[in-house]
Amino acid sequence: ITSVMQFDRGDLTYIFSVANEMRSMVRTVGATDLLKGYVLANLFYEPSTRTSSSFIAAMERLGGSVIPIHGVQYSSVSKGESLPDTIRTLECYADVIVLRHPEVGASEVAARYASKPVISAGDGVGEHPTQGLLDLYTIFSELGTVDGLHVALIGDLKNGRTVHSLARLLRLYETRLTFVSPDTLRLPGDVKGQLLDAGREVRECAAVEDIITDADVLYVTRVQKERFGDMRDYEAVKDCYTITTELMSRAKEHMALMHPLPRVGEIQYDVDADPRAAYFRQMENGMYIRMALLAAVLGKA
Ligand code: CP
Repeated sequence: ITSVMQFDRGDLTYIFSVANEMRSMVRTVGATDLLKGYVLANLFYEPSTRTSSSFIAAMERLGGSVIPIHGVQYSSVSKGESLPDTIRTLECYADVIVLRHPEVGASEVAARYASKPVISAGDGVGEHPTQGLLDLYTIFSELGTVDGLHVALIGDLKNGRTVHSLARLLRLYETRLTFVSPDTLRLPGDVKGQLLDAGREVRECAAVEDIITDADVLYVTRVQKERFGDMRDYEAVKDCYTITTELMSRAKEHMALMHPLPRVGEIQYDVDADPRAAYFRQMENGMYIRMALLAAVLGKA
């Protein structure tokens, strides 16, 4: 799983139905032995809290075990070992590899060299396909549908790989999309082109106030400090948007406020009590989606 472009609506319906089963299973009995005897190599070249720990939890709740490599400085990567050799090493011990890497296309490279399934956990400013899936699953869970919705994606649309994956998935549904960002952080042209080719209605603007009363989903993202070469450019945009209780008072009564997290000020803490704040449920959904994906790629779904 290296890009959401490999999925069609039928695939998504299937993945979400397996995730629903995983959610019911976890809520009733907590764990199963579906993947007993299987091993996951969790290989992270970049920091992570949610993706890494939810993959570990997913594998363990399915009865499997995990090789966690979350500080590649303590692995042979620090001695200069290449990505292909690292992948070929880990597949000697594991049945599936999850990879987060700072370079766009790294998961494609890994998949080319691997004979075992590879799941991207994010490749630089490229994509974060499992996050895109859990985001779409969350929209279904919160609002019951995706067709017909107005989805506004806000913040660092240039560097935010979760935005690139979610936007590409939304092209498969009858959605209206508004991209809200400063000029310097606009959505890449290739993603916008894919949406237009799919017949989606796409708008770009700079102010949340322009869409707050009409959006069904507000998908807020962090300005990705680690992607800026010049910190003066980051300082110029870092506080561009803040969701407050006052702003939420103007939003629809039935809508979803989402964020892939971590947040660094884009959503004020007192918004968390708003029932429309879906980001903690969104995070939990990540584990069910990753359970479904692990079971699927290992032929056990
Ligand atoms: N949403 C997300 O990818 O979070 P982490 O970087 O903590 O994995």
